[in-house]
Amino acid sequence: MNLDDFAELAHARRTSMAVQKDVAVPRDVVMALCDLAQFAPNHKRTWPWRFALADGDGRARLGDVIADAIEAHGDTPEKVAKARTKYLRTPSVLVVGSAAGDTELRTAENRDAVAAGIQNILLAATAHGLASYWSSCPKGANDATAQLCGFDSDTTIVAIIYLGWATTPAAVPARPAPTLNVIE
Ligand SMILES: Cc1cc2nc3c(=O)[nH]c(=O)nc-3n(C[C@H](O)[C@H](O)[C@H](O)COP(=O)(O)O)c2cc1C
Repeated sequence: MNLDDFAELAHARRTSMAVQKDVAVPRDVVMALCDLAQFAPNHKRTWPWRFALADGDGRARLGDVIADAIEAHGDTPEKVAKARTKYLRTPSVLVVGSAAGDTELRTAENRDAVAAGIQNILLAATAHGLASYWSSCPKGANDATAQLCGFDSDTTIVAIIYLGWATTPAAVPARPAPTLNVIE
C-alpha cells in the first residue's frame, strides 16, 4: 500500500448506516476488527480496549438498557422510545469501552488509545466492505451499558459502532485544508 492507496481508504470511510439490514456481520470479522484496534498506540501498554458485540436479539437488549437509563436520567419519552429501537438499524453493534487508568492522566491517555483503535476499526471495516457509524453512548447510560457489556464499572463507553455490509457508498464531502504551523 502506498500513500495514495491509503488516502483512498481514508477518504472512503464515512459515517453511514446504508447497510443490508438482514445480513449479519460474521463474528470472526468483528473479532478481526477488534484485534486491529489493539494495534493502535497505547501509552504504558495498559491495553485499555474493551469490546462487546450486540447482534440478533442483543441489539434490542442494548436498546432497552440504554432507554431505561436515559429515562431514569430524565430524557423525554420520544428520546427514550427512539433509544429502545435504534440499535436494530444495523445487524451488528459494537460497543467499545476504555478502561480507567491508575491516574487521571492515564485514564485520559487510555481513552486516546481507544479512540485511535476505533479509527483502525472504521478503516478496516471500510476496506472489508462494511459501513460503519460511530455514535456516542447517550448521556446517563454509560454505567448501565458498561454493566450490560460485562465491563468494569469505571469503564468509559467511547463508541457504540453500528456495522453492516455497505449497500451504497456514501459521498465524501470536502474537508477544510489543514493548517500546518512550522516551528522554526
Ligand atoms: C467521538 C465521536 C462521537 C460521535 N458521536 C456521534 C453520535 O452520537 N451521533 C452521530 O450521529 N454521529 C456521531 N459521530 C459521527 C460524526 O457525526 C461524523 O464522524 C461526522 O459527521 C463526520 O462524518 P464522516 O465520519 O462521514 O466524515 C461521532 C464521531 C466521533 C468522533
